[in-house]
Amino acid sequence: MKIEIDGKLLHIIEGSSERVKDYLDFMNRLSQDPDNYTLSRYSKIDEQKIIDGSKSWGKSTIMILAYNDSKVVGFFQATRGKYFGLERQFHIAEIAYAVDKEFRGKGLIYVLFNEAIKRLEGVKILTAWVDERNIRSRKLLIKLGFKEACKINEFIYSQIEKTFCNLIMYVGNIDIVKTKLERS
Ligand SMILES: CC(C)(COP(=O)(O)OP(=O)(O)OC[C@H]1O[C@@H](n2cnc3c(N)ncnc32)[C@H](O)[C@@H]1OP(=O)(O)O)[C@@H](O)C(=O)NCCC(=O)NCCS
Repeated sequence: MKIEIDGKLLHIIEGSSERVKDYLDFMNRLSQDPDNYTLSRYSKIDEQKIIDGSKSWGKSTIMILAYNDSKVVGFFQATRGKYFGLERQFHIAEIAYAVDKEFRGKGLIYVLFNEAIKRLEGVKILTAWVDERNIRSRKLLIKLGFKEACKINEFIYSQIEKTFCNLIMYVGNIDIVKTKLERS
């Protein structure tokens, strides 16, 4: 799929493990961004772990990538069975996402969200853990019909910031999220 944002052509594709290096380049750039709240905010990226994890892309994990030329500028990941295993939680998907600063506030995240969600057949519930300080991400989820399930103070330790951080768990019913996405 191709879209244009600010005169720039973006290719939205489903990622497979051959593209993990492009994803890692993006994650390394993102880790320098003070507004980044993906896991790379809290500790250095473990490249080997991500390379190993990419073997499940296209299987239990749906990975959608946005490319501008040869550079990844956004991703949306949805992993089934993350908490209690696929056989028990094939219907639950944990989500994670980010877009490059240049493409924030321009709708790219909704395109990525939509591309992932249509590949999640059989999934009923979406979950996301969000840092309390990540107002943009919290607003995005609320806008898409997610509810705050709980907040756990000091749930993650940031080796980079040398502090414990509070996380909020969001839960969304996939049918409600789909309806909201259609309207956004
Ligand atoms: C989270 C993220 C994907 C959201 O995408 P986005 O393109 O920024 O999303 P939006 O532009 O729709 O912004 C979401 C909301 O935050 C609001 N917002 C934008 N900047 C803001 C700011 N500095 N302070 C408060 N609210 C802000 C927007 O107005 C919007 O709210 P609205 O719909 O009520 O107007 C993107 O910001 C991002 O990639 N962040 C870095 C990576 C990250 O933290 N990922 C999430 C991990 S859980």
